[in-house]
Amino acid sequence: MTRIFNSFSDLIGNTPLLELHNYRRNRQLGARILAKIEYFNPAGSVKDRIAWGIVKHAEEAGKIRPGDLLVDVTSGNTGIGLAAVAASRGYRTKFYLSDNISPDKVKLLRLFGAEIVTVKNEFFLDPQALDKISLRVQEENPGAFFTDQLANPANPRTHFETTGPEIWRDTDGAVDIFVAGVGTGGTISGAGGFLKSKKPGLKVVIAEPAEASLPTDVNPYPDEIDGVHKVSEVPREQLPRNFDSTIADEVIALNTSDARKTAQSLVAEEGIFAGTSAGAVLFAATQLALRPENAGKIIVAVLPDTGERYLTAAGEPAVSVDTAAIRDKVDLHS
Ligand SMILES: Cc1ncc(COP(=O)(O)O)c(C=O)c1O
Repeated sequence: MTRIFNSFSDLIGNTPLLELHNYRRNRQLGARILAKIEYFNPAGSVKDRIAWGIVKHAEEAGKIRPGDLLVDVTSGNTGIGLAAVAASRGYRTKFYLSDNISPDKVKLLRLFGAEIVTVKNEFFLDPQALDKISLRVQEENPGAFFTDQLANPANPRTHFETTGPEIWRDTDGAVDIFVAGVGTGGTISGAGGFLKSKKPGLKVVIAEPAEASLPTDVNPYPDEIDGVHKVSEVPREQLPRNFDSTIADEVIALNTSDARKTAQSLVAEEGIFAGTSAGAVLFAATQLALRPENAGKIIVAVLPDTGERYLTAAGEPAVSVDTAAIRDKVDLHS
């Protein structure tokens, strides 16, 4: 029997769940951590899912036709996913990005043919920034289709219909804790919402950047965890509409350096090279796995993209790739 796929969109989803056996053994973790490796998506990140979900919904509703321009605000991955979907279905793309995103992502966006508008990172310090930028995007692009990943319900719905069910299916319903970061909130709200609907006792945990990893008036360009935002103690109106602020049972805050170190450990111990927000999610999953009350439980951690997307990150390199030093320190495969 042949196994031939017919379009880019057919390649999205059904990403693997990898149990981190070495990582668990090296830290004597009581809980099991399963990494959902989203860089297996065809344009390399979890955002391929929503890119296709949003475009498919707009096509079905008769809102877009080939040749149309798709516009959005993105920290890179959604833009890359949308630009790839657009290439395969005949749309054009234009994206508004903050000026501190990884240069690798900017290169990829250009390569996929997207037009780029950069916005100073300071702009996002404005409490009304999300509403203001959404308005600007629409005003500057009359006639374009605003994919609106921050508020388009097709975003969390895609995770409710794909990411969540895949985790449920692949763990045979045994998942106990679900951990992810929040950019738009689509992953945590959609997949977390689906998993809670199946198993009300399941815990949903958010990994968020700590204060030191956030821009301020004094330091608008700190070393940030690309793609994820702080959600605790943030007024509801300043959070993305796609984030269900009732979904999380716990929020774990961490610094960018902890996220990077965890990403380094993952590549050194398991051979999986994931991005900084993946390191953040795995750091939070590790804290949970160390707790005696979680012994024997199954934690699913979403790794949104690949570390290759941050090799020439703005500022400090995302991963210094000193894996040899890590290997020397950890008694691997013992
Ligand atoms: C690298 C990265 N990690 C995590 C996320 C968060 O995903 P979501 O938008 O579903 O909350 C994003 C989204 O912007 C991202 O680009």
